[in-house]
Amino acid sequence: MINYRVMEIQDYEDVITLWRATEHMSLRDADSRANISAYLDRNPGLSFVALFNEQVVGALLVGTDGRRGYIQHLAVSADLRGKGIGKRLVGMCVDALAEIGIMKTHLFVLNDNHAAQNFYAKLDWYPRNEVTMMTFNHSDNLNV
Ligand SMILES: CC(C)(COP(=O)(O)OP(=O)(O)OC[C@H]1O[C@@H](n2cnc3c(N)ncnc32)[C@H](O)[C@@H]1OP(=O)(O)O)[C@@H](O)C(=O)NCCC(=O)NCCS
Repeated sequence: MINYRVMEIQDYEDVITLWRATEHMSLRDADSRANISAYLDRNPGLSFVALFNEQVVGALLVGTDGRRGYIQHLAVSADLRGKGIGKRLVGMCVDALAEIGIMKTHLFVLNDNHAAQNFYAKLDWYPRNEVTMMTFNHSDNLNV
């Protein structure tokens, strides 16, 4: 049986291990323990983990700027995919966002990650082809 609960900073090592083992994850210095700890503090009750035999087998990081929600780093262990874990995690976070009045949520998917795009489309998410992501980097470090 899979259990679900809010992500805590104590989950960090398990979660980062899962993310590192997952394809299409863009992990950066911003994903350090200190940064994730601050992120969870700023966005309480919005990020979730899925547990099987007390092991983290699914995770997603979710926050809000107070106006929109943002999902990042959704991952499910490769050996447990196709069992509804990803769908449940996304459902839990959009419900948690709705409870605090955030009705619209965005996420970024790599252009070549068609599997994730198809997964989200199945969950009624729609692509925003009218938008181009742009970034300003206040550093010479491309990995910040
Ligand atoms: C994308 C991912 C999170 C899906 O997790 P999952 O637990 O396998 O997905 P679920 O079992 O909850 O699937 C939910 C629905 O999406 C469908 N689905 C899942 N993966 C799919 C795919 N690659 N193509 C089409 N549909 C898919 C399922 O069939 C299911 O449909 P149903 O509700 O009609 O049965 C998982 O494949 C993963 O971790 N991928 C690698 C990381 C990644 O790309 N993350 C997204 C970054 S933006």
